[in-house]
Amino acid sequence: MKIENSVAIVTGGASGLGEATVRRLIAGSGKAAIFDLNEARGQALAKELGPNAIFAKVDVADEASAEAGLAATRDAFGGLNACINCAGIPGRIGRIVGKSGPMALADFKRAIDVNLVGTFNICRLAAAEMLKNQPDPETGERGVIVNTSSLAGIEGQMGQIPYAASKAGVIGMMLPMVRDLSQFGVRVNTIAPGLFETPMGAGAPPELKEKLISTLEFPKRMGAPAEYAALVVHLIENSYINGELIRIDAGTRAPPR
Ligand SMILES: NC(=O)c1ccc[n+]([C@@H]2O[C@H](COP(=O)([O-])OP(=O)(O)OC[C@H]3O[C@@H](n4cnc5c(N)ncnc54)[C@H](O)[C@@H]3O)[C@@H](O)[C@H]2O)c1
Repeated sequence: MKIENSVAIVTGGASGLGEATVRRLIAGSGKAAIFDLNEARGQALAKELGPNAIFAKVDVADEASAEAGLAATRDAFGGLNACINCAGIPGRIGRIVGKSGPMALADFKRAIDVNLVGTFNICRLAAAEMLKNQPDPETGERGVIVNTSSLAGIEGQMGQIPYAASKAGVIGMMLPMVRDLSQFGVRVNTIAPGLFETPMGAGAPPELKEKLISTLEFPKRMGAPAEYAALVVHLIENSYINGELIRIDAGTRAPPR
């Protein structure tokens, strides 16, 4: 699918990996709807990028909020071709049983709600919108979905159960989603980033970051959001990639702690 003149939703588009993706899509003459809770950053970004970008204050985990975001996208751009899910939270760090007892169930549920339920919520509404499209005469495609998991969804470290479980869920729902949507010409792929230089990635304590960077193979540095965005663009443009989980992690295999 071509980026030029395409319409994409980017959740979490006001910051980090999502913001870099929005910038790349607009630079490629695409249109982007930024779905995020951070109104100040989202509005400022949309204003900076001009008429091909809109901001919608959306809580991805909330049905009505997501539906309103979809309606705003339809009103602004008339349809939807791509959906990139980047909204996410790191979740509570802590062991299953800590010094003060078992982990609070609410901490587990919160990560699942935003990272997994939120991703599914946007996917289901975006896919329904894409099914209204005529297939692309060249590729037969009606749409493309790119979801964001994490290295933690494959190799979760100690203290990461809520986040790891939510991100593993994003990987687990990909294949049935591909199978549900293939007859309509909608592709679904998942990116598992390692350690990236974003407000979330950079928010880790310096000693933890140093330790994580030391586990990287090559290059031994945090990933740049633009490197993630370049992969999203490739996944949109390359019609033959479907049902794929792609690590972008400098060859890392996460150690237990
Ligand atoms: N940065 C990393 O090292 C890294 C590594 C692996 C995976 N990831 C994943 O990549 C994605 C993007 O992360 P990032 O590093 O850009 O983080 P970030 O914190 O810079 O951006 C996340 C954005 O999501 C938004 N958001 C959070 N909850 C939301 C909700 N309920 N509804 C709508 N928007 C919401 C935030 O407001 C923020 O703008 C996340 O899913 C994250 O788990 C990041």
